[in-house]
Amino acid sequence: MTMPTLFDPLQAGELLLPNRIVMAPLTRNRAPGAVPTPLMAKYYAQRADAGLLITEATAISHQGQGYADVPGLYGTEQLDGWKKVTDAVHAKGGRIVCQLWHVGRVSHVDLQPQGRAPVAPSAIAARTKTYLIKDGVGSFVETSTPRALDAQELPGIVMDYRHAARHALSSAGFDGVEVHGANGYLLDQFLKTGANKRTDVYGGSMENRARLMLEVMRAVSQEVGGGRTGLRLAPVTPANDVGDEDPQALFEYLARELAPLGLAYIHVIEGATGGPREIPDRPFDYVAFRAAYRAAGGQARWMVNNGYDQAMAEAALQQGADLVAFGKAYIANPDLVERLRQGAPLNTPDKTTFYGGGAKGYTDYPALETSSVTSA
Ligand SMILES: Cc1cc2nc3c(=O)[nH]c(=O)nc-3n(C[C@H](O)[C@H](O)[C@H](O)COP(=O)(O)O)c2cc1C
Repeated sequence: MTMPTLFDPLQAGELLLPNRIVMAPLTRNRAPGAVPTPLMAKYYAQRADAGLLITEATAISHQGQGYADVPGLYGTEQLDGWKKVTDAVHAKGGRIVCQLWHVGRVSHVDLQPQGRAPVAPSAIAARTKTYLIKDGVGSFVETSTPRALDAQELPGIVMDYRHAARHALSSAGFDGVEVHGANGYLLDQFLKTGANKRTDVYGGSMENRARLMLEVMRAVSQEVGGGRTGLRLAPVTPANDVGDEDPQALFEYLARELAPLGLAYIHVIEGATGGPREIPDRPFDYVAFRAAYRAAGGQARWMVNNGYDQAMAEAALQQGADLVAFGKAYIANPDLVERLRQGAPLNTPDKTTFYGGGAKGYTDYPALETSSVTSA
C-alpha cells in the first residue's frame, strides 16, 4: 500500500477534496458591522486551491459575538455578504465551510445586545482579552464578567447553531460547517472543569459537561447532514483561560459519543493553540483519543493542526492523520498548495496586520510568479 501525500484527493463525508491541505480558521477582524466584504471574497478566492477552506470564526447570534468586526451569520446582510464569498470561491473551483462560533464569556458588554453581560456556563470571568474598535482605533481589553446561563436558555442556543448551519448552506452557499468547539469559547467552556462549575445536568460529571456540545453536534448534523459537518476541538489548549482536570477521559468519552454522528471530519488542535505542541503540565495522548473514536466506529476524517510544516504534515499522514490544517502559513501564502508542491520558500506572515485593517497583510501577499495560481 502506498502512503498518501498531501497532494492526494480525499473524500471527507460529502466533500470531495482535491488535496489534504486545509486552510485553518483565521479571525481577521475585517468585517465592519459583522458583514463580510468584497475584500474578504477576494482573500478566500485567492486561497481556493486548498483542499478545504475553513472560514474565520463566525458568530451564530449577536450574543455569540466577542470581538470587533468579526462576521456573523444571523442577519440577511451577513448571509448576502457570505454568499459573495462562497460564489467567488466556487468560481475558482474551491470548497469552503463556515466555522460556527459562540464565544460565551470571551466577550465584552460593548459587543453584547443592549450592553448586557456575556453568557457562560458559570459566572467566572476569563483572564483573557478581547479586541474592541472605538472611534476607529482598535485595542485589546479585559473581557467582561459573564452571567451563568439558565438551563432553560440552552435549547435556544442549540437552536441558534441549528439555524446558523441551515442558513450557512441554504442562503450563504457554504459547502458545510465546522462547529467551533475549541479555544476556550462557549462549548469548550461547558466541557472543561475550569470554566464549568454548574450543579445541574450541564455541569459536574464529564457526561454532563459534554452535553451541550453533543446536543449542538446532533442538531447541526441532523440539520445539514453529518457529511457536511466538522468539529474543532482543542483538548489541552490554555487559550482563553480554560483547562480540565482530566482531559484524556473527557475527550475519549466525547469521541465515543461523536462516533455515530457520521461527521465529515474532526479537527484537533494539538497542544497550545499557536504555541507549544507539548505542554508539560497538560499531557495528552492524541493517538489514544483517535483510537477511542475509531474503536467506537467513528469514520470522520482526522484533521490535525498546530505548528505543522510540510515534513511534519507528511509524517502525520503516514501516522494516520487524513488532513492537515495550516494557519499562519495560509495568512502569508495564498498559493500554499503550489508552494508546498514545488518545495518553494514561504512568505513570512506579518503579525501587525493579523487583526483589523484592509488589504495590507491580507490580500497583498505575493503568489509565485510562475505558479498556475497566478495565471488562474
Ligand atoms: C490571526 C489568527 C486568527 C485565528 N483565528 C481563529 C479562529 O477564528 N478560529 C479558530 O478556531 N482558530 C483560530 N486561530 C488558530 C488557528 O486556526 C491555528 O489553530 C493556529 O494558528 C495554529 O496553527 P498554525 O501553527 O498552522 O498557525 C487563529 C490564529 C491566528 C494566528
